[in-house]
Amino acid sequence: MSQESTASLTDLISAADEARKKSEARFSHFRVGAAIQTGSGKIYSAFNIESSSYGLSMCAERIAVWSAINDGESNFTRIAIVSDAKDFCTPCGACRQVMYELAGDIEIFLTNKKGEVRSYRLSSLIPEAFTSKTLLNGRD
Ligand code: THU
Repeated sequence: MSQESTASLTDLISAADEARKKSEARFSHFRVGAAIQTGSGKIYSAFNIESSSYGLSMCAERIAVWSAINDGESNFTRIAIVSDAKDFCTPCGACRQVMYELAGDIEIFLTNKKGEVRSYRLSSLIPEAFTSKTLLNGRD
């Protein structure tokens, strides 16, 4: 889902939380919502979608990033991640890699059940990331 707006952080977190409520987490029952914001202020939100072949399940964060890329976006500022957990839900390693490569060094905002917000710069969550720089220029 995307929407044009000059979204505040509260709007971004609300979009992630609304997405969480629509999660297709019929196996883990662990609902996650993510909302990524573009440089122009547009928001793309998504939820995790699970498969009966468990390994084919997909995290909310990657679906949000891919939705935005699929819509022609390439410039991102921040992402909010909301889950069913009492504590903050930090993104998995695969999502960190994909977000870093496709969205750059964005800000990550997490909320817990108390409504507290924690933020990170993505590069602090994936130090020394593998990127296309190494892939394309790192050979002899
Ligand atoms: N999940 C996410 O969507 N994002 C995360 O950051 C962590 C995990 C999903 C994947 C799976 O559907 C469920 O949560 C349990 O791992």
